Amino acid sequence: MWRDIAFQHTITPTGQGTRGMWMKNKYLHRLYGENRVFRKSVMNITAWMDFAMLGGHKDGETINRLRRVRRERESLLSGNEAFMVNAVARAQSCLPGDMAEVGVYQGCSARLISEASGGRPLHLFDTFEGLPCPEKGEAGHLREKQYNSPLDRVKAYLADRPNIQFHPGFFPATAAGMENTRFSFVHLDVDLKSSTRACLDFFYPRLVPGGAIMTHDYSYLDGVREAFAEFTGGHPMQLIELPTSQAILIRTDTVNDSVAQGLAGVSNWEKTLTEPV
Ligand SMILES: C[S@@+](CC[C@H](N)C(=O)[O-])C[C@H]1O[C@@H](n2cnc3c(N)ncnc32)[C@H](O)[C@@H]1O
Repeated sequence: MWRDIAFQHTITPTGQGTRGMWMKNKYLHRLYGENRVFRKSVMNITAWMDFAMLGGHKDGETINRLRRVRRERESLLSGNEAFMVNAVARAQSCLPGDMAEVGVYQGCSARLISEASGGRPLHLFDTFEGLPCPEKGEAGHLREKQYNSPLDRVKAYLADRPNIQFHPGFFPATAAGMENTRFSFVHLDVDLKSSTRACLDFFYPRLVPGGAIMTHDYSYLDGVREAFAEFTGGHPMQLIELPTSQAILIRTDTVNDSVAQGLAGVSNWEKTLTEPV
């Protein structure tokens, strides 16, 4: 099974060597989460710097679009993170399968994914009432109902995106009935360990070959990182940690199967060339 297949990357345990990692400071996280003015100022300044750098060498139209979307609603994504969400969703749109996001907040990242999805169905999961109850270790810097954004406001913002389906309520309960859906791209931005783990349990087995789960906050929030470590159960998997707070888990075991089938197909095809007609 997929858990037994050896890949190149092992997820490092949490809590090791965090000295000097000022961006993981719990008080800073709490201030960031609870003080909207502080959060917006930090996000706007860093996004401005990111886009100024990206604008120096990336496609101008893409950068202007990302800037526009980030201005329309409050987002927890930095400029570089918005760029990555857009780029990975666009690349994954070549694959069959639906797309999903868990952790929508005001809909900024959802709009980016929708615009990059090539019209693939995009399922949006959120309580639309903010975070569920954090675990003990998370309660110091995250709180219940944080990032509350009412469903009707998010629906109004995304009303022009016909490929979006809303699944309001507590995930994974809201995924009931979707057991047979397959996904090419899933974006997680749920902050909590329990939510991240529930998402991995549900989505990973439902990824198409080459499908990807991208998470926000992998390096900011210990709970998110721990959920990935527990999910993989110590088995090395294809996880790519980005220089932003994000990480991407790619389902490559089924790719190996498909590549094997593909290669068999190629050699059969080559055989037909050498066989007499
Ligand atoms: C940080 S916000 C998402 C930010 C958003 N992606 C953006 O770009 O601005 C986290 C969201 O996760 C949602 N959430 C966390 N755990 C959840 C769960 N188990 N079920 C549904 N929603 C959840 C919260 O309601 C909240 O809106």
